[in-house]
Amino acid sequence: MQPFDSLDKLENAAELDQLAKPIREFLNKKIQPQSLRDALHGVWLGHPLHPVLVQVPVGAWLSAGVLDLVPKTGPATSVLIGTGLAAAGPATITGWTDWSELNTAESRLGVVHALANYAAVGLYGASLWARLRGRRMRGKALAYAGLAIVSGSGVLGGHLSFRRAVGANHTADVPDLLPSGWTSVGRLDDLPDGGLTCVDVGPVPVLLHREGDLVRAIVDRCSHLSGPLHEGELVQAGGETCVSCPWHGSTFRLRDGSVVHGPATAPQPVLDTRVVDDDVEVRLRG
Ligand code: FES
Repeated sequence: MQPFDSLDKLENAAELDQLAKPIREFLNKKIQPQSLRDALHGVWLGHPLHPVLVQVPVGAWLSAGVLDLVPKTGPATSVLIGTGLAAAGPATITGWTDWSELNTAESRLGVVHALANYAAVGLYGASLWARLRGRRMRGKALAYAGLAIVSGSGVLGGHLSFRRAVGANHTADVPDLLPSGWTSVGRLDDLPDGGLTCVDVGPVPVLLHREGDLVRAIVDRCSHLSGPLHEGELVQAGGETCVSCPWHGSTFRLRDGSVVHGPATAPQPVLDTRVVDDDVEVRLRG
């Protein structure tokens, strides 16, 4: 039994779905248009935005906790707590946007993570109010309670990132797994013109799309949460052919694997292709 094994129970707590479902429906309706969702996911940054933004409230509140141990620090602690409260808004909206496109187990953990953060925000708000009214000891007690909760919530966030790989690039291992050099993946005539096909190149599933004599290839495992791209749809964006993931709708250009729409923020690895005597060969683009 390891200390964080109890979190597995949260992942399996189906009762949390009753809470998660209406929240997800509300968020998917309210956080629109898609360009706003993309911005909040961090598509423009090429990295999830939420973990960047949470540094501010967590850092400010932790610093406030240290300052509260030092006598005569004046209003500095209140300024830090207020900074954390102001920064909690952007961190929250990016977190909910990411959460609204998670799979079931991750969304159960995520909803508990979010509720704990709301509790911490409430305690820090009450702490600031108490300090402004001159009730410093009460303000300290409330802030330390908030710090304990936000620390526990941080453990949940870490579990989501490092055990469940939320926010991680699910194609990061591809360069280590693909065979080096050109690999044959079948005959050109066997590929459906205009369709999507999945072939295994070593242990890596690769998506092929043929348009006449042109074959495009990207890794089939979606960088967001490993959805099978060959089961998705071909769409046009900016005059280019793209594939949309069947799980949460991330959209990638087939030409270069770049992200058109999130929730994915990492591009799909692309493979160069060539046709030799009607044989299609692929190789990881360097
Ligand atoms: S797995 Fe989530 S968008 Fe592809």
